[in-house]
Amino acid sequence: MENRYILGIESSCDETAASIVKNGCEIVSNVVASQIESHKRFGGVVPEIASRHHVEQVTLVIEEALAQANMKPEDLDAVAVTEGPGLVGALLIGINAAKAFAFANGLPLIGVHHIAGHIYANALMQPMEFPLLALVVSGGHTELVFMKEHGSFELIGETRDDAAGEAYDKVARVLNIQYPGGPHIDRMAHESDEAVKFPRVWLEEDSYDFSFSGLKSAVINYKHNAEQRGIEVNPLHVAKGFQDSVVEVLTAKTLRAARQFNVKQVIAAGGVSANKGLRKSLDETFANEGIPFYVPPLKLCTDNAAMIAAAGTFMFEAGKRSDMGMNGRPGMEL
Ligand code: KG4
Ligand code: ZN
Repeated sequence: MENRYILGIESSCDETAASIVKNGCEIVSNVVASQIESHKRFGGVVPEIASRHHVEQVTLVIEEALAQANMKPEDLDAVAVTEGPGLVGALLIGINAAKAFAFANGLPLIGVHHIAGHIYANALMQPMEFPLLALVVSGGHTELVFMKEHGSFELIGETRDDAAGEAYDKVARVLNIQYPGGPHIDRMAHESDEAVKFPRVWLEEDSYDFSFSGLKSAVINYKHNAEQRGIEVNPLHVAKGFQDSVVEVLTAKTLRAARQFNVKQVIAAGGVSANKGLRKSLDETFANEGIPFYVPPLKLCTDNAAMIAAAGTFMFEAGKRSDMGMNGRPGMEL
């Protein structure tokens, strides 16, 4: 097969990113401009600020991706861009940059679903084997996705309220920890050998859905009650108690689904898959089960454009193309 070079562009939330990927599996360049610092003092992503940063950064990251790869636009085969879901004003910046780049250089344009991107981050590490189960856990998503082949996504479970990452960030706020709180809670959980016992939310017995808002409320109530009684709250114990609950439920549901769907491979994706506790739990569980389990390195778990280029390559090979009428789709379905 001829080599394929796809430029990926990502701007759905608070990273502006561009990357060039070869044949859907090899990173040639990968540039991420993070805005986390600008959102920190607001305790979360401010859409207006995000859009403004994307405008400032998007051309620069594309140029940098080309420069690092030592390539010119004419060396590329297509441009892949996150079409949704995400913040509409943020998505539109990446989409318009992708359209302009594709038009100016006569390249095909491919709109990619952000979650498909997170899943395909794994294709950059090892070949995907089907049938496959993906646990997608990010700031906006908590989903179990069954794939019987490339491009086929069957949603078998999802969160009914908060996403896992959202719960991490909200609990962090309760503990007066800066946004994004996930990595801090993770670190604190590891520093603690004691855990507050919080509930596990399983929902119906056969359900693969998740719910994290009750757990978040349990943390808030615990802190409130302790303060009212003048008892000092140990944030490390709270962090560990919270993380233990999240990790246990995510692991158990993923295992049950992997068994039921008889999958050949289990992968994790999204920002929360950077979580050390979750990685360890899934690693051990699937090693015992004898099912290969993979999770990308940390910098490919959080938002990046290499994953968009990887997913875009498989879509490109399948003949998928978008037209210049592409719009940002904040609520896009997988
Ligand atoms: O995938 P991502 O970069 O952006 C979205 O598409 O949402 O995920 C960001 C989320 C944030 O909620 C952040 O707190 C969480 O991932 N996160 C973590 C860890 N690293 C990032 N959550 C728990 N443990 C971590 N180590
Ligand atoms: Zn993401």
